[in-house]
Amino acid sequence: MTTPDVSWEARADLVVVGGGVAGLTAARAAARRGLRVLALSKGGPTDTATQYAQGGIAVVAPQGDSVESHVQDTIAAGAGLCDADAVRSIVAGGQEAVAALTDLGAVFDRARDGQISRTREGGHSTRRIIHAGGDATGAEVQRVLNAAGLPVLFGTAVAEIVTGPDGVQGVVAVSDSGFGVVHAPAVLLATGGLGQLYACSTNPPGATADGIALALRAGAAVADLEFLQFHPTVLFTPGGLGRRPLISEAVRGEGAVLVDPEGRSVTAGVHPRGDLAPRDVVSKAIAARMQALRVDHVYLDARSISGFAQRFPTITASCRAAGIDPVTDPIPVAPAAHYQCGGVVTDTAGRTAVPGLYAVGEVARTGLHGGNRLASNSLLEGLVVGARAGIMATERRGVPARVTSVGQLDFPAADRKLLQELMSDNAGVVRTGDGLRAAILRLLQLQSAPAPEDAALQPVSALETAALTLTARALLVAATARTESRGCHTRADQPESRPDLARSLPIRLGPDGRPQLIGDNPARTGPVPIVPQAS
Ligand code: SIN
Repeated sequence: MTTPDVSWEARADLVVVGGGVAGLTAARAAARRGLRVLALSKGGPTDTATQYAQGGIAVVAPQGDSVESHVQDTIAAGAGLCDADAVRSIVAGGQEAVAALTDLGAVFDRARDGQISRTREGGHSTRRIIHAGGDATGAEVQRVLNAAGLPVLFGTAVAEIVTGPDGVQGVVAVSDSGFGVVHAPAVLLATGGLGQLYACSTNPPGATADGIALALRAGAAVADLEFLQFHPTVLFTPGGLGRRPLISEAVRGEGAVLVDPEGRSVTAGVHPRGDLAPRDVVSKAIAARMQALRVDHVYLDARSISGFAQRFPTITASCRAAGIDPVTDPIPVAPAAHYQCGGVVTDTAGRTAVPGLYAVGEVARTGLHGGNRLASNSLLEGLVVGARAGIMATERRGVPARVTSVGQLDFPAADRKLLQELMSDNAGVVRTGDGLRAAILRLLQLQSAPAPEDAALQPVSALETAALTLTARALLVAATARTESRGCHTRADQPESRPDLARSLPIRLGPDGRPQLIGDNPARTGPVPIVPQAS
């Protein structure tokens, strides 16, 4: 792909890139304040990670819970890397954000007494996870946001963010109608995660790190990419690759237990919370047991849960489609790539250090998740920060914006399948310095191989693979530099946490286009946070 011929043009006050919870919440908040918003989504209305979210939304319960308790659970899970102010700010916004969703028509599950039901997940000290459709919370959130009448151009990806001396000027986009430009002084990235960097992931096919690459190329910093969360319980089937069905933590919250093929508990003696320990602890315990027994999966035994099929209809259907009945059989599970804890460095209103560029949701690093995200804090973050960022984008109202030239869109890209194997082998649940360094060298070889001939014919796929390649490089650089084990970054050769590394390691692109550590605290690389009211 070289300099594209531009065949269409549009103008907006705010371009939102992505159609999941964070993007549509931001789009709605901005539109309600009079901004002309255009959301671009490369897939269809339900091709988002939000659609697949099962467990729910972590939000402080009205009784027997407190913001401080949720804050402490989040910080404990985050392994010393959470930004406590960001955690407090985002957690405190939960109830208002959920009320806004309910006003839009979202229906959450209720108990017999009419109160909203709450379940428990790993790392939470109490039952505070609200859910919808049993285990289809994300689908309900997506449903109401899709129905909110927001202007979304589906099947349209973003190839480049164009900036000038005043910051963001717009984007170069690509759709079936060819390349186009949208002139806009504000761009909000809500592109989700990077699960497709790995051979097995819970993420949809579109989780190709697009926002990380776009932000890096626009001059923004990323941080904490080495903290890639592997969900402990993903349905295992022999040879299964690509998007794999999640078995929600809520199943353990309702009493299921993790056992090895010999019937022994996997987490006994590992953590006081046992199977409901934070996610990184459980994933590591499973990986260690699988290695010790030389097996490729363990089991989640949910047979003690009465009414399983009613409480977990999505999981029941996924298991039965794979020939497993969770009502009568233990479910084979193994860890798989699930959530990117780090991302584009922002404040708690989604602002990056590039004027007019915002990032929200999984693509962003606000400081909420630290080294390991607490379960069900992600929909919460998308709702709370999404609304704030949509409001914050009004600061760019009236800034003149024009895309005057479109650059060459020739980005280095490795073969996607080889890249996934490389990352799964060397940057998985347990890593080593030697493996990470070897992976960087191999990645350089892979990305210097000639581009496949169909790259020009399939520009979206080529852009995705280039985004994965750049993000892999940044992740490997960060993981190599983090010579310790912390949160969901585990180094077999550096098993301890190091007090001097209890900080984020932000990365920017150097003048040569390579991801480089910038050695500063990301909190100081962004603007001073000013948090607007989300209402
Ligand atoms: C789950 O339901 O286990 C996933 C929830 C999350 O990733 O927060």
